[in-house]
Amino acid sequence: MSTSNCTKCGGTTWVLNEYGSYKRCECYEVSKAKELWGNYGVDPKEIKKINTYKGYNQDTKIAKKMAIDYVYNFSLKDSTWLLLTGKHGGGKTHLSIGIGAALLDKGIPVVYMPYIESMWELKANAMDNEYYLKIINRFKKAKVLIIDDLFKDKVANGKLIAGITDTDIKHFYPILNYRILNNLQTIISTECTPEMLISLDEALAGRMIYSCKKNIVKFSENCDYRLKEYECGD
Ligand SMILES: Nc1ncnc2c1ncn2[C@@H]1O[C@H](COP(=O)(O)OP(=O)(O)O)[C@@H](O)[C@H]1O
Ligand SMILES: [Mg+2]
Ligand SMILES: [Zn+2]
Repeated sequence: MSTSNCTKCGGTTWVLNEYGSYKRCECYEVSKAKELWGNYGVDPKEIKKINTYKGYNQDTKIAKKMAIDYVYNFSLKDSTWLLLTGKHGGGKTHLSIGIGAALLDKGIPVVYMPYIESMWELKANAMDNEYYLKIINRFKKAKVLIIDDLFKDKVANGKLIAGITDTDIKHFYPILNYRILNNLQTIISTECTPEMLISLDEALAGRMIYSCKKNIVKFSENCDYRLKEYECGD
């Protein structure tokens, strides 16, 4: 649903409530979320969809099925998270954005949070209290949040090269803690394996993994699509 063809408000984003005053239409939050995707360079209309993702080996087949099931079974009441882990090229961003776009189409406001850029944004605006709260609350309170490339700055060639920083503790931990406490759906893509997450912060990783239950995809070494492209068919 987009605001322009919304049947409830006719594209005005305002509807009358039972007391005769105006309130925002449901489509407003979704269109705001779409706008935000654009701010991070992702246009939900042009992004790759789950159905263009090829399952060419066991891991990628499992990943595709998990993404499809996640969208199909999605309910705001069930807060099972989804974790996509493994080396780059497995299609973690493709699938997480594909899930986000499918949920936006269902009218669910999904906020996209590329980890590195968002950390810069939060850090750079830490002194501007009002603006800072606006950004951090957007991530904290999103009905669905996609955290893309979590802890990217701490991994190189499949190995941990750095630990948790003060910036993470100050700006990122409150987001994650809030979402865990309030059972808010979160989709995480990261090059860190669950074991690496545990060695970064055992308590935090434990809570993230617990929130995912069985929704964890691990892409193994042989899942770099850019290398596989010419060897594998559907
Ligand atoms: N199984 C797949 N089927 C189709 N395209 C894929 C697949 N895996 C990766 N790609 C493509 O390869 C590129 C890299 O994937 P990306 O999602 O960025 O990987 P990651 O986030 O895991 O590093 C993207 O253009 C993506 O669309
Ligand atoms: Mg990625
Ligand atoms: Zn509307």
